[in-house]
Amino acid sequence: MKPILLHVVGARPNFMKVGPVLAALEATGEVDQHLVHTGQHYDEELSGAFFDELGLPRPDENLGVGSGSHAAQTAEVMVRMEPVLQEVAPARVFVYGDVNSTVAAALTAAKLGIPVAHVEAGLRSGDRSMPEELNRIVTDQLGDALFATERAAVENLEREGVAPGRIHLVGNVMIDTLERLRPVAEARPVRGRLGLEEEGFVLVTLHRPGNVDDAERLGEVLDALDAVREATGSEVVFPMHPRTAERIERFGLEGRVGGVRVQEPLGYLDFLALMSASAAVLTDSGGIQEETTVLGVPCVTLRPNTERPVTVTDGTNRLFDGPLGELPGVVAAAAAEGRRPARPPLWDGKAGDRIAEITVDRLLGVGSPTAS
Ligand code: UD1
Repeated sequence: MKPILLHVVGARPNFMKVGPVLAALEATGEVDQHLVHTGQHYDEELSGAFFDELGLPRPDENLGVGSGSHAAQTAEVMVRMEPVLQEVAPARVFVYGDVNSTVAAALTAAKLGIPVAHVEAGLRSGDRSMPEELNRIVTDQLGDALFATERAAVENLEREGVAPGRIHLVGNVMIDTLERLRPVAEARPVRGRLGLEEEGFVLVTLHRPGNVDDAERLGEVLDALDAVREATGSEVVFPMHPRTAERIERFGLEGRVGGVRVQEPLGYLDFLALMSASAAVLTDSGGIQEETTVLGVPCVTLRPNTERPVTVTDGTNRLFDGPLGELPGVVAAAAAEGRRPARPPLWDGKAGDRIAEITVDRLLGVGSPTAS
């Protein structure tokens, strides 16, 4: 019987990471695989659309945990995950990124004595007020195979005392997906559908609690976005996460949206098409900092820190934490820089293959007669 690998995903940024790992492991013919969706994200725009577009297999299980406080959501994933792990009895569990589903699944597996592999390990913002930072730290402590995207992540893990044999610098699986689907995305008529005649618009995504949970801050951010439109002379397009939309409504800030073009959240391919055609991106997301670096699109990250420093040192990213009145000038200057595609080491579309090889040869010891 082949060993079973169980992969856990839950929220939007997980979906583009699991695909390359599943496919590369499938191609080895050495393992059986089981995919669990926790249901942390459940809206079609945040979840369902991604499975079709990314060509992911249907999950074997959907735990249906939904939204809740951090404690409730994390606990619910654990309670619902435990019997699945007991029944499937995988040789190993793979978790992705830094969302609540990631840490919950890792903790449940580790307590059952099942080894945990963490894809996108070692990233640190140094900011423990971000829920994702706590999720990263705990998940990496629990994992015995830590797959890192960049050198700084390896150094973070070493500094935290992780044994070097558990750390594997493999590159970035999200970039595997981007490279595979970029030609499909760029052929899509999304600009026409959104009525964007010209390239050269500014694309915005903002959903972090630090930017959207405080009424005064969110109001100032919205004012700044409208001012970006004037400073750049370009359309500002904002596909809005439901959390941000809910806060705008709750705080009564609809009037501050001004001339910004608010859209529903987009699927993977449409969003990639828009990123690729934009003059600049303004975001507080993690993954978008990496995608814009490879696309060469200038990125302004509205945060005081980043857990992905290679996007600043080698890529197109810069952090902005100054007075919001200065933001329009910063975005306009970024947009004026033009394209500068960059490729950090091992961001070559083959990270999934490296993970599969290490898993089969070294972790499971089934793939090669010479494996030790
Ligand atoms: C989660 C991740 C974050 C990631 C983001 C990307 C954590 C701690 N955070 O944040 O790292 O960048 O996903 O999208 O795991 N909601 C819906 N529909 C859904 C899911 C959520 O309307 O399908 C709304 C609900 O009001 C919910 C809120 O969004 O309460 C927050 O959802 P949650 O999954 O807790 O965190 P995100 O903000 O989406």
